[in-house]
Amino acid sequence: MYSLTILAALLAAVPTFAQAPLWGQCGGQGWTGPTTCVSGACCQYSNAYYSQCVQGTCGGSNPQTTTTRTTTGGSTQPTSGSNGQCGSGSPHATVTGSSGNYRASRGSTTLYTGSNYLSAITAALNGISSGERVSVMASGSIGANTISISSGKTFEVCGTIDVGNRSGRGAIESTGTNGVSIPFLTMTGNPYFGLLFYGTSNLSLGQITMNLSGGMGIRFHRDEAANSNVKIGTVRVTGAGSHAIETWNINGLTIDQVIARDVGECALLLQKVTNARVGLVDGNNVAAGTGYATLRFANENGKLNGGYGTNIYIDKVVSRGGGRGVFCVSASGGAEIKTVDLASNGNNAILIENCYNVAIRGGTVNGGGEVRLAARTEFANNKDISITLRVDGTTVRESPCGTNISWNLSGNGARNIC
Ligand SMILES: *[C@@H]1O[C@H](CO)[C@@H](O)[C@H](O)[C@H]1NC(C)=O
Ligand SMILES: *[C@@H]1O[C@H](CO)[C@@H](O)[C@H](O)[C@H]1NC(C)=O
Ligand SMILES: *[C@@H]1O[C@H](CO)[C@@H](O)[C@H](O)[C@H]1NC(C)=O
Ligand SMILES: *[C@@H]1O[C@H](CO)[C@@H](O)[C@H](O)[C@H]1NC(C)=O
Ligand SMILES: *[C@@H]1O[C@H](CO)[C@@H](O)[C@H](O)[C@H]1NC(C)=O
Repeated sequence: MYSLTILAALLAAVPTFAQAPLWGQCGGQGWTGPTTCVSGACCQYSNAYYSQCVQGTCGGSNPQTTTTRTTTGGSTQPTSGSNGQCGSGSPHATVTGSSGNYRASRGSTTLYTGSNYLSAITAALNGISSGERVSVMASGSIGANTISISSGKTFEVCGTIDVGNRSGRGAIESTGTNGVSIPFLTMTGNPYFGLLFYGTSNLSLGQITMNLSGGMGIRFHRDEAANSNVKIGTVRVTGAGSHAIETWNINGLTIDQVIARDVGECALLLQKVTNARVGLVDGNNVAAGTGYATLRFANENGKLNGGYGTNIYIDKVVSRGGGRGVFCVSASGGAEIKTVDLASNGNNAILIENCYNVAIRGGTVNGGGEVRLAARTEFANNKDISITLRVDGTTVRESPCGTNISWNLSGNGARNIC
């Protein structure tokens, strides 16, 4: 009550100067607070009862500031769905409000009001059809539950969604769908899987930020239907206990950037993925004390039509500290990494083990664990590996000798190669 009194006094004292914060209310029936927004935001009408400050400019047109791909080989199509800013334009349904008081609406129709954030989100998603969009302009917690997104729907979270641990399940899932889009999402909490997918086609993820206290960020499931044509923009993950992104069974994957900080296992783990193009994979303190890596290929990743023709293209891998930098294992390959920047990795800077047709075209390794070509007995030895690299402060070792291995090394690192 004390703070409300102060607030009321402040509002009464300077009503014409106050501006609503980003995501704050700025209008609606009975609203007596500020009706303008802080710089960089504008007041967008949601319904008769609620207008809210959103980022950028309001209006029905599609802003031209959409994220475009930076991947050299990728297309230039936007990854962020239909709009450049979260909540911009005219979402078909919205969730607004704050803790204890959420509202889902479609135009002037109220779909839900009440204290349950998950119910508000579910009502909004149920209130749109394929080809339409829900914008969640509110923050809250869904607990250990799952939000499911069906075909053709665009779901964006402009606030922060806090999630719990539902064993074996995703906090947000889309399975057996076509054309689902999540242009914006910020998530906190300790999910089993933050996002879980399988059997998807034409899935598009845009700017995804996950500040987790455990669990896995994004998973494309293993023993389930495969996925095709998956586009991912920039994914930032901190604090996951497991991988930031683990993929199985995708044909046709593009990713702009994966940025992982203090993540327990991989930044990006590709398995049984074909025809992939990835811009940047950047890990800092990723996979510390484990055999995982900032970038790992495993389980026949890149095996296409029974062979290993190049079909996995990675622009750049940056890795600092943590476990391994780059790790290719278990009959994976068909991969080209344009450049690496690896330093102080606590395990191998690079480990290539039973892989076929892998090229690292340039870059540097500075200290950390050795650069190693190795082999286990259960798969054929390394073949057709080409490495151009400057290595300082750590060793390069090929043992056992592979077939058709081509080294182009510079730097002071000791060499024990065939
Ligand atoms: C994916 O999108 C393309 C292009 O719009 C379309 O031709 C294709 O049928 C879609 N895939 C599925 C499985 O619907
Ligand atoms: C997520 O973490 C980043 C980096 O630590 C921080 O800048 C950002 O504010 C965090 N966002 C949320 C919603 O926790
Ligand atoms: C989630 O719960 C399971 C048990 O159901 C547990 O094994 C797992 O470690 C938990 N994960 C997180 C991130 O809390
Ligand atoms: C050796 O490997 C390279 C790829 O690194 C490949 O282009 C070349 O054809 C291979 N040579 C033979 C003789 O297999
Ligand atoms: C070895 O790599 C350097 C760049 O570090 C490049 O200029 C040179 O052409 C390469 N040599 C061969 C034989 O590929």
